Amino acid sequence: MNLIHRLFGRNAEEVARPSKQQSTAGLTTEEVLAQILSLKLKGGSGGYVIDTDGVRYLDLVSAWGANLLGYGYPRIAKAMAAQAWKHANLGVAGPDYHTLRDLLLRHIPCAEEIHLLKNGSDATAAAVRLARYVTGREKILHRGYHGAQDWCMASYACPGVPKSQREQIISLNSLECDGVRQALADNPGEIACLILDPFCWPIPDREVMLEIQDLVCRDGALLIFDEVVSGLRAAVGGMQEAWGVTPDLACFGKGLANGMPLSVLLGREQWMRHVLTINYSLTFRLEAMSAVAAIETIREVKERNVCADLARKGRILKEAYAELCKTYGIASALVGHDSRPQLEFFDERLQKGTCNYLVIKELARNRICTYGTFSLCYAHTDKDIRSVIRALEHGLQKVSTALRESPATA
Ligand SMILES: Cc1ncc(COP(=O)(O)O)c(C=O)c1O
Repeated sequence: MNLIHRLFGRNAEEVARPSKQQSTAGLTTEEVLAQILSLKLKGGSGGYVIDTDGVRYLDLVSAWGANLLGYGYPRIAKAMAAQAWKHANLGVAGPDYHTLRDLLLRHIPCAEEIHLLKNGSDATAAAVRLARYVTGREKILHRGYHGAQDWCMASYACPGVPKSQREQIISLNSLECDGVRQALADNPGEIACLILDPFCWPIPDREVMLEIQDLVCRDGALLIFDEVVSGLRAAVGGMQEAWGVTPDLACFGKGLANGMPLSVLLGREQWMRHVLTINYSLTFRLEAMSAVAAIETIREVKERNVCADLARKGRILKEAYAELCKTYGIASALVGHDSRPQLEFFDERLQKGTCNYLVIKELARNRICTYGTFSLCYAHTDKDIRSVIRALEHGLQKVSTALRESPATA
């Protein structure tokens, strides 16, 4: 069953004639995500995924952002194949570890020491545990999603997470100096760290970040950049490199090994020297296949200026979409970092979810797979970008019709 069936329960031709009910009901992002998760895929190639019916989709989900270069990327495949003949996991550091460590220390501004892990969730959980240990404080101030572990899911009132964990976590809805200042003042001497996803929109500028850093530092808390998404995407060294703001600790994951499971906690030596004390150890932490994939990914991103290429493609998308919105008189934009634009609607006549749904549906009908976030990868071509723009225009035409027909317009 392909994406069109999954998303809309009907075939492409039927989807082309949207029912009244669907054009007004919309789907939540969670519902669209659930549909994407239940897709039956048989493979991926470059910037595309292929389902079991052989239908190819231009893939803007990119394995939740992990497919940074492209599926089946030759340089990575070659390195992993060579490593497979040696060993997969010695359980301790091998030569691959040392090469990767050297690369990370060279390219990531805050990295004075590293601790390899598997998922982004591991890296952020270890970062938070380390911050709690070195500060002797328990509360966490955060901005964004940082993974599936209890400490973070407590802020979403997740089933199964003890209520006591919720008392320890304070969520910021935006990243502004006043909000940070207030949260620190409300919890004097209690906050272990501010952990933030730098890609959460709206992205603050360097001056705001420097002030936030100063506030956090003067309070005695640690500043942690959760660069699980922004690392190797905004710049090889993530947003800390782009902003020129060096945090105490940072977490990288997702695209780090172009789809292989690897994450890393890294940061200043004065904190990282305690990392073994917090016992965040995993059987596969030092597994070599992912390490060699990461080595070649970092080198490729650097040598081919991948971040600039992603940003360039994102800017083309954003600018074309802005023109289309003007043409159709719709208050919408592709927001966020250029390397990963996100669909946003500001028109209050229709529910946000409805507009998103109409556009996502039109993209799916044009065999473009997304949930509203456009995780660009290096393998996407300019021709791919042009087909996304064409499909976005069809989507806006549907939104325009829905707006004309909406009771709020009448
Ligand atoms: C900013 C950010 N941090 C951490 C995570 C958790 O990473 P993982 O799913 O690899 O555990 C995610 C996942 O989406 C993320 O977006």
